Amino acid sequence: MRTIVIAIDGPAASGKSTTGRLVARRLGYLHIDTGAMYRAVTLRALEEKLPLEDADRISALAEKTQLRLEKGDNGVRVFVDGREVTQQVRSAQVTRSVSAVSSYQRVRNVLVREQRRMADGGGVVLEGRDIGTVVLPNADLKIFMIANVPQRVERRKKDLEIAGVDVDSVTLEQEIRERDRLDSTREASPLRKASDAIEVDTSGMSIEEQVDFVVARAKEIIEGGGK
Ligand code: DC
Repeated sequence: MRTIVIAIDGPAASGKSTTGRLVARRLGYLHIDTGAMYRAVTLRALEEKLPLEDADRISALAEKTQLRLEKGDNGVRVFVDGREVTQQVRSAQVTRSVSAVSSYQRVRNVLVREQRRMADGGGVVLEGRDIGTVVLPNADLKIFMIANVPQRVERRKKDLEIAGVDVDSVTLEQEIRERDRLDSTREASPLRKASDAIEVDTSGMSIEEQVDFVVARAKEIIEGGGK
C-alpha cells in the first residue's frame, strides 16, 4: 500500500499536536512534532545562558546539538545529546522564548534538514508552522488548522492543568496572541497557509472529529493513488 506524507500546520493550541499524534497512530505512521525540536534548541540556549538575541551563538549551538524524537505513550519524547528533556521543553520559560529562537534562519536550516530526512520515504505526519510551505512543499496532504482564541486558551489551560500547572486565562490569552504575532510576522518562514492546504477550523470540533476528517482525506489519497 502507498504511504504518504501529511503536513499539519497552524498556530499554537489549534489542535495540531493531538490530531497529528492520533492520525499517525490510526495510520501506523511516524508523528514528528517539529515544535518540540525548536523547543529543544531553546532549552539548550537557556541552559547555556545565551542571550536570546544572540543569533550567531544560538545558531552554532543548534548546529552542534544532537536531537532525537521518540514515540511515547502520551506524545513525543524529546532527547538532546542523549538526555531526555520531554518535560523541560514544555516549561513556561521555553514557551516564552521559543519564538525568538525559531526566528533565526540558521537554526531553521539545521532543523528543516533533519525534518526532511525524517520524512524521507513517507509514512509520516509532520506538524508545525512551515511544513506545507517550506519543509515539504510536495507533501501529499496539507492541513492548516485554526481555532478561535477562547477555544485555544481553554485547550492550553487544560493541557497545563494535566501537567499540574495553573495559569490564569488572561495570561494564556496574552501569550497565545503574542506568539501568533511573532510566528506570523517573522521574516524566516512565517506561519501561513499553503495555497493547496485544506483549512480546518477546529473551534467546534471534538478531537475525534478532527482525526476522522484528516484520516478520511488521507485514505482518499492512499486508496485513490493520486493527490
Ligand atoms: O507547536 P509548538 O507550540 O510546540 O511550537 C513552538 C514554537 O516553535 C512556535 O512558537 C514556533 C516554532 N515553530 C516553528 O517556527 N516552526 C515549526 N515548524 C514548528 C514550530
